[in-house]
Amino acid sequence: MILSWCLFILALTSSTTLSTNPGVEVRLTNKGLDYGRQLGIAYVQQELRNVKIPDFSGTERVVVGKVKYCLSKIHVVNVGLPRSAIDLVPGSGVKLTIGDAFISMQGNWKIKYLVLKDSGSFDLNVNGLTITTSIAVRSDETGRPTVSVTSCAASVGSAKIKFHGGASWLYDLFTRFIDKALRDALQKQICPLVTKAVEALVPQLKTLNVLAKVDKYAEIEYSMVSSPAVSTSSIDLSLKGEFYNIGKHQEPPFSPTALSLPPQTDNMLYIALSAFTFNSAAFVYNNAKVLSIYITDDMVPKSSPFRLNTKTFGALIPQIAKQFPGLMIKLLLKTEENPQINFKPKNATLQTNATITAYAIQLNGTLSPLFVLNVESSISTQVFVVGMKIAGSLSLNKMKLSLGTSYVGQFEVSTIDHIFQMVLKVVAIPIANVYLAEGYPLPALGKMQFVNPQLQILKDSILLSTDVQFTG
Ligand SMILES: *[C@@H]1O[C@H](CO)[C@@H](O)[C@H](O)[C@H]1NC(C)=O
Ligand SMILES: *[C@@H]1O[C@H](CO)[C@@H](O)[C@H](O)[C@H]1NC(C)=O
Ligand SMILES: *[C@@H]1O[C@H](CO)[C@@H](O)[C@H](O)[C@H]1NC(C)=O
Repeated sequence: MILSWCLFILALTSSTTLSTNPGVEVRLTNKGLDYGRQLGIAYVQQELRNVKIPDFSGTERVVVGKVKYCLSKIHVVNVGLPRSAIDLVPGSGVKLTIGDAFISMQGNWKIKYLVLKDSGSFDLNVNGLTITTSIAVRSDETGRPTVSVTSCAASVGSAKIKFHGGASWLYDLFTRFIDKALRDALQKQICPLVTKAVEALVPQLKTLNVLAKVDKYAEIEYSMVSSPAVSTSSIDLSLKGEFYNIGKHQEPPFSPTALSLPPQTDNMLYIALSAFTFNSAAFVYNNAKVLSIYITDDMVPKSSPFRLNTKTFGALIPQIAKQFPGLMIKLLLKTEENPQINFKPKNATLQTNATITAYAIQLNGTLSPLFVLNVESSISTQVFVVGMKIAGSLSLNKMKLSLGTSYVGQFEVSTIDHIFQMVLKVVAIPIANVYLAEGYPLPALGKMQFVNPQLQILKDSILLSTDVQFTG
């Protein structure tokens, strides 16, 4: 629905009382608000077209006797909303003002006066219609926003009525009171219509992904952690931005540091994602024990100059050739600590400390450990936006091996360094990249799409700058 963007704007103005550093900051600029205003006005215009003014009748005393009248089949033929503004109301919400609006209506009239009966049609042109609506935005118990109209005022500037058919001397009787009655009837319709429209936004706001499922292990919490900072130029919203194990929300032994948005306003929306958010992901996956992988020879490309067998390793570590001749080798690569992402301007680097355990596969299937290596690696990380997700791709930057335990006597680790460089580059990292390419959901409303999203790596955060569009 086209009002989603308005909802998003409203969502940003809700407040909660918690005070935690956010993992994610969202900024909505004036450009974004203006897009919201355009969508909102289109919606209100459409609703005004459907205004139904019920038939009404009455009796008015005139100089001689009484006029009994009845107006029916009143319908809108045209609506124009040429001027509107959306303003932030610091600390409370949003104010939508519509001015100089006009509505043209048509209907039928019928009167009884003394012994006369007459009927015809009429055109009503209402000009200078002003609607002022204040919308309060709060947060519900789930950290989701909810909205309500706190005040609404509608006033009609001028109304011109023109009757067709019937005897013209009767028109004078009409214009005196029917004009006002119609104007009042219309005025009464507008605020309930606006209130209904705002209430219809509530279920739409529920589409804000405050708990976004990632995969079978993780979900991301995007609920608000503090009141929004509403200034005259933007709304800044602080979101938790934390990965959790599905169903088991365990806090990591680190917390977000202060996050700030750069003072940019060219795009509608800015989303800053802290290193904390990515590190909480690493914490979750490491805890779920999914950051480990067995690597076997069939995973090594055919073109590789080495194979995972005791022949290759035995040529470098003679003890292996002697003790385990003619066997295949299997490796277990496993992170030992939470991988850590570091953001520096234009540089995202993932630091991981892992171990690689090498086993000889005995003919009966038993695994005989050969050695355990400690692998400290620095992995360059590219980030990109895919749909409404942020995705990544890794490439090995640097790797440092040291011997943890050996079951085959002492050996010089540097002799096998090139093998493990290759194993990481051509086997392990490509597997990780398949997962990372799936991406992680960004905070969004149901029908929201990014338009020309750009990512920038800053100090301690990634900044997404984007325009948005609502579809459907
Ligand atoms: C990025 O930073 C890391 C250290 O965090 C450094 O080793 C690496 O060379 C840098 N990469 C580039 C392209 O500057
Ligand atoms: C990896 O280990 C080194 C040496 O013990 C340590 O300095 C570094 O902080 C560790 N890195 C991570 C990401 O745990
Ligand atoms: C498997 O073979 C190895 C080497 O021949 C032997 O040491 C081990 O006991 C065997 N294990 C089983 C379960 O048969």
